[in-house]
Amino acid sequence: SPCAKIAPSMLSSDFANLAAEAKRMLDCGADWLHMDIMDGHFVPNLTIGAPVIQSLRKHTDAYLDCHLMVTNPSDYVTSLAKAGASGFTFHIEVAGDGWKELLKDIKSAGMQAGVALRPATPIETVFPLLEGEEHVDMVLVMTVEPGFGGQKFMPEMMQKVNVLRKRFPWLNIEVDGGLGPSTIDEAAQAGANCIVAGSSIFGSQDPAGVISILRVKVEE
Ligand code: DX5
Ligand code: ZN
Repeated sequence: SPCAKIAPSMLSSDFANLAAEAKRMLDCGADWLHMDIMDGHFVPNLTIGAPVIQSLRKHTDAYLDCHLMVTNPSDYVTSLAKAGASGFTFHIEVAGDGWKELLKDIKSAGMQAGVALRPATPIETVFPLLEGEEHVDMVLVMTVEPGFGGQKFMPEMMQKVNVLRKRFPWLNIEVDGGLGPSTIDEAAQAGANCIVAGSSIFGSQDPAGVISILRVKVEE
């Protein structure tokens, strides 16, 4: 499998001190910063958009892993690329037949492309996005219903990760929702290599310790 990427979800950080929180996570050993962009429509919560990504980019060179929980992802490609987003992950449920053009636009804007699935969405729906000459770089398997941090990990989703890892050994497979020291074994054994964790990292007295546990489990 590709190498471990530990991505603290900044949704659990103090948004009023975002630059300092980002630096703290990187100092604790984070590889990526996971940025949850929600439009209050695809999910019943509203968070941040391109202006905040642009502000944060002035304070860090880190990989900004943007997870778009929005109904119209194509509306955000240009502005997020300009703002300095590194990865752009859209949901398959809203992309429809437009995924080909969306993928092309993300790539030509200079970002890595990812596709995410809600828990109820079958894994087969993303196969076409992985099999062509132009394919996504990452699949994000949601392990909670998107919208909020602090929910319980859904172990049933590991079936999807298993299937993906067998078929696409080169693929970055990200898991998001309820990940922490008590759930990482299942995710790592199924073959996930990109680990998003919000409350388990930010809620800990020893975030560096949590990040290192997550990394060791992915790498072993
Ligand atoms: C949920 C978001 C997640 C969330 C994870 O919709 O996509 O990134 O912040 O938070 P935890 O790790 O607390 O489940
Ligand atoms: Zn997320």
